[in-house]
Amino acid sequence: MSQERSDTLVLFGATGDLAHKKIFPALYQMVAKGSLTEPVIGVAFDPWDLGKLQARARDGIVNAIGKIDEKIFAKFASQLRYVSGDYRDGATFDKLKSALGSAQRPLHYMAVPPTMFETVVQGLEQSGTAHGARLMIEKPFGHDLQSARWLNRVLHLVFDEQSIFRIDHYLGKEAIQNLLYFRFANSFLEPIWNRNYVESVQITMAEDFGVEGRGRFYDEVGCIRDVIENHLLNILLLLAMEPPVGRSADDLIDEKVQVLRAIRTLTKDDVVRGQFKGYLAEPGVAPNSPVETFAAVRFFVDTWRWRDVPFFIRAGKNMPVHATEVIVRLKQPPLDVFDPIKPGDANHVRFRINPQVAISIGAQRKQPGDDMIGEQVELTALDDSKGDMPPYERLIGDAMNGNRQLFTRQDASELAWRIVGPVLGDATPPHVYEPKTWGPEDAMNGFGPPNGWINPSK
Ligand code: BG6
Repeated sequence: MSQERSDTLVLFGATGDLAHKKIFPALYQMVAKGSLTEPVIGVAFDPWDLGKLQARARDGIVNAIGKIDEKIFAKFASQLRYVSGDYRDGATFDKLKSALGSAQRPLHYMAVPPTMFETVVQGLEQSGTAHGARLMIEKPFGHDLQSARWLNRVLHLVFDEQSIFRIDHYLGKEAIQNLLYFRFANSFLEPIWNRNYVESVQITMAEDFGVEGRGRFYDEVGCIRDVIENHLLNILLLLAMEPPVGRSADDLIDEKVQVLRAIRTLTKDDVVRGQFKGYLAEPGVAPNSPVETFAAVRFFVDTWRWRDVPFFIRAGKNMPVHATEVIVRLKQPPLDVFDPIKPGDANHVRFRINPQVAISIGAQRKQPGDDMIGEQVELTALDDSKGDMPPYERLIGDAMNGNRQLFTRQDASELAWRIVGPVLGDATPPHVYEPKTWGPEDAMNGFGPPNGWINPSK
């Protein structure tokens, strides 16, 4: 069944925030393109009727897209069903079973808090609705290595690994697809893409807003668990991996796993944690919370290709800009034939992930005039977001088709937790930083790539 398309999408958590903001708009776009013709069954605790769910979906679509085509929406609304009930009650799953009718291969999408994963999976098993089905789950996949292993055991009691789709929406982003493409479709990169030429790699994910009403969720998670252990580590893997030997999902995932196996387990010296001033006053946040809203982390990949090249990841809330960027910085030329090249101005490759998609190469050229004095320019390979497919659209489509390439496999999930384990929680003190700054300046003093960080522009 691994390549057969799912014949129904079941959305647990249909009345929740994620469904409203991301999933309904994605489903609507899929209906518009003709890539979703199957029934969509929303499931949630709220005692709503179908009309209310349709209205909620409409609201989410209008918010996300800014407009709605009534004909397309009518088509989408006609595909929607609603089952309400408590996930702990077998009767909810009996109702789901009758709503599924003759469906043979449903995709169950768990857009619910992780505390509900086990209950829902057991409900599916007991009602027989897990049979022939796929399961898609939202992060976090556990809280640490031990809980990730436990979660995997719980899932595997009912679903085999081939049927589990752990979603990291970052991997569905157009810019990430482009990064992967650019690396392996261009042979000029390969000779320099290693420890002989690359001085350092830095990945920055800056968000110019705070925790925005998500204080309770965020305070249980913190920056490392929220975005570093998953989204940003995944970018590092795509930058560091060897070319896959084939095109199957496992060929790509195997190469990522090889990198994960080679990444040194972090120590306390590899991290600086920060907390923006005012975080403790956010609703839902514990009065003395040690949770970080910023972290800068240094990784080493102990492979032939990357030994001793530092990979830095920095992420934070309440930064001066909203942007995600990767800079792969090359070493300085061995000799200054002309004017000395300023430290930090050596060649680089820049992948801009967010908000626009861009790929450019930093180079030196001579300034006009008598003297042989240089200036830095960027050669741009890509600088637009045309035809950007929103990640949820791509990933839900892939899961319906049984394509696991962009999803997180069990071994990858557990290895990632092994790497970050020692710096989770209050392993090191969080340093307070002023909102709209680049983190705790004093604590960051000297911590970063050789020749410094490059702050993304707006
Ligand atoms: C989510 C995190 O996974 O990713 C959020 O929970 C973060 O805290 C978000 O803001 C960023 O994703 P995007 O696609 O909006 O850049």
